Amino acid sequence: MNQPSRPHPLRLGVNIDHVATIRNARGGDHPDPVRAAEIVAGAGGSGITCHLREDRRHIRDDDLARIQDATLLPLNLEMAATDEMLEIALRHKPHAACIVPERREERTTEGGLDAAGLHNRLAPVVGRLSDAGIRVSLFIAPEPRQIEAAMRLGAPVVEFHTGEYAHAEGDERVRELARIAEMAALAAKNGIEPHAGHGLTYENVQPVAAIPQLAELNIGHYLVGEAIFCGLEASIRRMRELMDEAR
Ligand code: PXP
Repeated sequence: MNQPSRPHPLRLGVNIDHVATIRNARGGDHPDPVRAAEIVAGAGGSGITCHLREDRRHIRDDDLARIQDATLLPLNLEMAATDEMLEIALRHKPHAACIVPERREERTTEGGLDAAGLHNRLAPVVGRLSDAGIRVSLFIAPEPRQIEAAMRLGAPVVEFHTGEYAHAEGDERVRELARIAEMAALAAKNGIEPHAGHGLTYENVQPVAAIPQLAELNIGHYLVGEAIFCGLEASIRRMRELMDEAR
Protein backbone atom coordinates (compact mmCIF):
# COMPACT_ATOMS: atom_id res chain seq x y z
CA MET A 1 0.00 0.00 0.00
CA ASN A 2 1.28 3.50 -0.80
CA GLN A 3 2.28 5.55 2.20
CA PRO A 4 0.88 9.09 2.20
CA SER A 5 3.72 11.42 1.19
CA ARG A 6 5.24 13.23 4.14
CA PRO A 7 5.38 17.01 4.09
CA HIS A 8 8.80 18.66 3.86
CA PRO A 9 10.46 19.52 7.14
CA LEU A 10 9.56 23.10 8.01
CA ARG A 11 12.46 25.39 8.84
CA LEU A 12 12.15 28.29 11.28
CA GLY A 13 14.10 31.39 10.32
CA VAL A 14 14.26 33.72 13.30
CA ASN A 15 14.29 37.40 12.42
CA ILE A 16 16.40 39.20 15.04
CA ASP A 17 15.89 42.76 13.76
CA HIS A 18 14.02 43.89 16.82
CA VAL A 19 16.79 42.92 19.21
CA ALA A 20 18.75 45.58 17.34
CA THR A 21 15.77 47.98 17.50
CA ILE A 22 15.92 47.83 21.30
CA ARG A 23 19.70 48.26 21.28
CA ASN A 24 19.43 51.27 18.98
CA ALA A 25 16.84 52.93 21.22
CA ARG A 26 19.72 53.75 23.60
CA GLY A 27 22.50 53.93 21.05
CA GLY A 28 24.80 51.52 22.90
CA ASP A 29 25.59 47.89 22.29
CA HIS A 30 23.01 46.11 24.46
CA PRO A 31 21.09 43.93 23.69
CA ASP A 32 23.46 42.55 21.07
CA PRO A 33 21.84 40.79 18.09
CA VAL A 34 24.90 38.51 17.97
CA ARG A 35 23.93 37.09 21.34
CA ALA A 36 20.42 36.57 19.98
CA ALA A 37 21.85 34.72 16.97
CA GLU A 38 23.75 32.39 19.30
CA ILE A 39 20.57 31.70 21.25
CA VAL A 40 18.64 30.95 18.03
CA ALA A 41 21.22 28.30 17.19
CA GLY A 42 20.86 26.67 20.62
CA ALA A 43 17.06 26.81 20.63
CA GLY A 44 16.38 24.90 17.43
CA GLY A 45 16.08 27.79 14.99
CA SER A 46 17.09 26.82 11.46
CA GLY A 47 18.47 30.16 10.35
CA ILE A 48 18.95 33.83 11.14
CA THR A 49 16.99 36.41 9.20
CA CYS A 50 17.66 40.11 9.27
CA HIS A 51 16.68 43.14 7.24
CA LEU A 52 19.32 45.75 6.57
CA ARG A 53 17.19 48.79 5.84
CA GLU A 54 18.26 51.87 4.00
CA ASP A 55 17.80 53.89 7.22
CA ARG A 56 19.57 51.23 9.39
CA ARG A 57 16.80 51.47 11.94
CA HIS A 58 17.60 48.02 13.35
CA ILE A 59 20.37 45.80 11.95
CA ARG A 60 23.49 47.74 10.91
CA ASP A 61 26.25 46.92 8.46
CA ASP A 62 28.75 45.77 11.07
CA ASP A 63 26.13 43.45 12.62
CA LEU A 64 26.07 41.34 9.48
CA ALA A 65 29.69 40.24 9.63
CA ARG A 66 29.51 39.75 13.40
CA ILE A 67 26.41 37.56 13.05
CA GLN A 68 28.04 35.54 10.27
CA ASP A 69 31.16 35.04 12.39
CA ALA A 70 29.22 34.06 15.48
CA THR A 71 27.03 31.27 14.13
CA LEU A 72 27.09 28.53 11.54
CA LEU A 73 23.37 28.95 10.89
CA PRO A 74 22.49 30.16 7.40
CA LEU A 75 21.89 33.90 7.15
CA ASN A 76 18.90 35.13 5.17
CA LEU A 77 19.43 38.81 4.36
CA GLU A 78 16.27 40.74 3.61
CA MET A 79 17.09 43.62 1.29
CA ALA A 80 15.63 46.17 -1.06
CA ALA A 81 16.64 45.83 -4.72
CA THR A 82 19.01 48.81 -4.65
CA ASP A 83 22.60 49.15 -5.85
CA GLU A 84 23.75 49.79 -2.30
CA MET A 85 22.15 46.63 -0.90
CA LEU A 86 23.29 44.53 -3.83
CA GLU A 87 26.86 45.58 -3.21
CA ILE A 88 26.57 44.76 0.50
CA ALA A 89 25.02 41.35 -0.23
CA LEU A 90 27.75 40.50 -2.72
CA ARG A 91 30.38 41.46 -0.15
CA HIS A 92 28.86 39.43 2.71
CA LYS A 93 27.57 36.52 0.62
CA PRO A 94 24.75 35.40 2.93
CA HIS A 95 23.24 31.97 2.29
CA ALA A 96 20.06 33.62 1.03
CA ALA A 97 18.79 37.05 0.06
CA CYS A 98 15.11 37.86 0.27
CA ILE A 99 14.21 40.85 -1.88
CA VAL A 100 11.57 42.99 -0.20
CA PRO A 101 9.85 46.24 -1.09
CA GLU A 102 10.98 49.07 1.15
CA ARG A 103 9.47 52.43 1.83
CA ARG A 104 11.25 54.76 4.19
CA GLU A 105 8.09 55.90 5.98
CA GLU A 106 6.63 52.44 6.61
CA ARG A 107 6.71 50.91 10.07
CA THR A 108 7.38 47.44 8.68
CA THR A 109 7.28 45.70 5.29
CA GLU A 110 3.63 46.34 4.62
CA GLY A 111 3.03 44.39 1.44
CA GLY A 112 4.63 42.11 -1.09
CA LEU A 113 7.07 43.05 -3.82
CA ASP A 114 5.52 43.79 -7.21
CA ALA A 115 7.73 41.24 -8.96
CA ALA A 116 5.52 41.42 -12.03
CA GLY A 117 5.70 45.22 -12.41
CA LEU A 118 9.38 45.50 -11.51
CA HIS A 119 10.78 42.78 -13.78
CA ASN A 120 13.39 44.98 -15.46
CA ARG A 121 14.69 46.37 -12.21
CA LEU A 122 14.75 42.99 -10.46
CA ALA A 123 16.26 40.89 -13.25
CA PRO A 124 19.87 42.13 -12.90
CA VAL A 125 19.69 41.99 -9.09
CA VAL A 126 18.39 38.41 -9.10
CA GLY A 127 21.00 37.52 -11.72
CA ARG A 128 23.98 38.96 -9.85
CA LEU A 129 22.95 37.48 -6.50
CA SER A 130 22.40 34.07 -8.11
CA ASP A 131 25.73 34.23 -9.94
CA ALA A 132 27.38 34.81 -6.56
CA GLY A 133 25.80 31.61 -5.22
CA ILE A 134 23.24 33.44 -3.04
CA ARG A 135 19.81 31.80 -2.95
CA VAL A 136 17.34 34.47 -4.00
CA SER A 137 13.84 34.70 -2.66
CA LEU A 138 11.16 37.25 -3.53
CA PHE A 139 8.78 38.46 -0.82
CA ILE A 140 5.47 38.51 -2.68
CA ALA A 141 1.74 38.47 -2.10
CA PRO A 142 0.25 35.00 -2.60
CA GLU A 143 -0.98 35.72 -6.14
CA PRO A 144 -0.54 33.74 -9.38
CA ARG A 145 0.83 36.72 -11.32
CA GLN A 146 3.58 37.23 -8.76
CA ILE A 147 4.54 33.54 -8.88
CA GLU A 148 4.63 33.72 -12.67
CA ALA A 149 6.87 36.79 -12.39
CA ALA A 150 9.19 34.91 -9.99
CA MET A 151 9.40 32.11 -12.55
CA ARG A 152 10.31 34.54 -15.32
CA LEU A 153 13.00 36.02 -13.07
CA GLY A 154 14.40 32.57 -12.29
CA ALA A 155 14.05 32.99 -8.51
CA PRO A 156 14.33 29.60 -6.77
CA VAL A 157 12.31 30.72 -3.73
CA VAL A 158 9.29 32.92 -2.98
CA GLU A 159 8.21 34.02 0.47
CA PHE A 160 4.51 34.76 0.83
CA HIS A 161 3.58 37.83 2.86
CA THR A 162 1.23 36.48 5.54
CA GLY A 163 0.30 39.91 6.91
CA GLU A 164 -3.20 39.90 5.44
CA TYR A 165 -3.84 36.43 6.86
CA ALA A 166 -2.47 37.49 10.25
CA HIS A 167 -4.68 40.59 10.45
CA ALA A 168 -7.85 38.95 9.12
CA GLU A 169 -10.55 37.38 11.26
CA GLY A 170 -13.29 34.80 10.76
CA ASP A 171 -14.17 33.91 7.16
CA GLU A 172 -11.68 36.37 5.78
CA ARG A 173 -8.88 34.58 7.61
CA VAL A 174 -10.10 31.25 6.21
CA ARG A 175 -10.00 32.75 2.70
CA GLU A 176 -6.54 34.19 3.20
CA LEU A 177 -5.25 30.84 4.44
CA ALA A 178 -6.74 29.05 1.44
CA ARG A 179 -5.04 31.57 -0.86
CA ILE A 180 -1.64 30.90 0.73
CA ALA A 181 -2.17 27.13 0.54
CA GLU A 182 -3.20 27.29 -3.12
CA MET A 183 -0.26 29.50 -4.04
CA ALA A 184 2.19 27.29 -2.11
CA ALA A 185 0.99 24.35 -4.20
CA LEU A 186 1.28 26.39 -7.41
CA ALA A 187 4.82 27.52 -6.60
CA ALA A 188 5.95 24.01 -5.66
CA LYS A 189 4.40 22.56 -8.82
CA ASN A 190 6.49 25.01 -10.82
CA GLY A 191 9.73 24.17 -9.04
CA ILE A 192 9.81 27.19 -6.72
CA GLU A 193 10.31 26.61 -2.99
CA PRO A 194 7.60 28.46 -1.05
CA HIS A 195 8.31 30.16 2.29
CA ALA A 196 6.01 32.40 4.35
CA GLY A 197 6.23 35.06 7.00
CA HIS A 198 5.04 38.29 8.57
CA GLY A 199 2.78 38.75 11.58
CA LEU A 200 2.95 35.10 12.66
CA THR A 201 2.28 34.37 16.33
CA TYR A 202 1.63 31.38 18.61
CA GLU A 203 -2.07 31.90 17.92
CA ASN A 204 -2.02 31.96 14.13
CA VAL A 205 1.06 29.94 13.12
CA GLN A 206 -0.37 26.43 13.06
CA PRO A 207 -2.72 26.61 10.05
CA VAL A 208 0.16 28.10 8.02
CA ALA A 209 2.67 25.54 9.31
CA ALA A 210 0.29 22.78 8.24
CA ILE A 211 0.56 23.74 4.55
CA PRO A 212 2.67 20.82 3.32
CA GLN A 213 4.60 22.57 0.52
CA LEU A 214 5.94 25.35 2.76
CA ALA A 215 9.61 24.81 3.54
CA GLU A 216 10.34 27.77 5.83
CA LEU A 217 8.64 30.33 8.05
CA ASN A 218 10.39 33.57 8.95
CA ILE A 219 9.21 35.01 12.24
CA GLY A 220 10.55 37.98 14.18
CA HIS A 221 8.53 40.60 15.98
CA TYR A 222 6.36 38.22 17.99
CA LEU A 223 9.30 36.04 19.09
CA VAL A 224 11.29 39.03 20.30
CA GLY A 225 8.19 40.45 22.01
CA GLU A 226 7.48 37.16 23.80
CA ALA A 227 11.13 36.95 24.78
CA ILE A 228 10.55 39.93 27.10
CA PHE A 229 8.28 37.69 29.19
CA CYS A 230 9.84 34.24 28.88
CA GLY A 231 13.27 34.62 27.26
CA LEU A 232 14.30 34.24 23.64
CA GLU A 233 15.23 30.59 23.91
CA ALA A 234 11.81 29.70 25.36
CA SER A 235 9.89 31.75 22.79
CA ILE A 236 11.72 30.06 19.91
CA ARG A 237 11.28 26.60 21.44
CA ARG A 238 7.53 27.17 21.87
CA MET A 239 7.15 28.35 18.26
CA ARG A 240 9.14 25.35 17.06
CA GLU A 241 6.88 22.99 19.09
CA LEU A 242 3.71 24.56 17.62
CA MET A 243 5.10 24.27 14.10
CA ASP A 244 6.05 20.62 14.64
CA GLU A 245 2.63 19.81 16.10
CA ALA A 246 0.93 21.35 13.07
CA ARG A 247 3.02 19.29 10.67
N1 PXP B 1 9.71 37.86 6.24
C1 PXP B 1 9.99 39.06 5.68
C2 PXP B 1 10.42 39.08 4.25
C3 PXP B 1 9.90 40.25 6.42
O1 PXP B 1 10.18 41.44 5.83
C4 PXP B 1 9.53 40.19 7.78
C5 PXP B 1 9.44 41.43 8.59
O2 PXP B 1 10.60 42.14 8.52
C6 PXP B 1 9.28 38.92 8.34
C7 PXP B 1 9.35 37.79 7.54
C8 PXP B 1 8.96 38.73 9.78
O3 PXP B 1 7.79 39.38 10.13
P1 PXP B 1 7.42 39.54 11.66
O4 PXP B 1 8.49 40.38 12.28
O5 PXP B 1 6.09 40.18 11.63
O6 PXP B 1 7.41 38.15 12.25
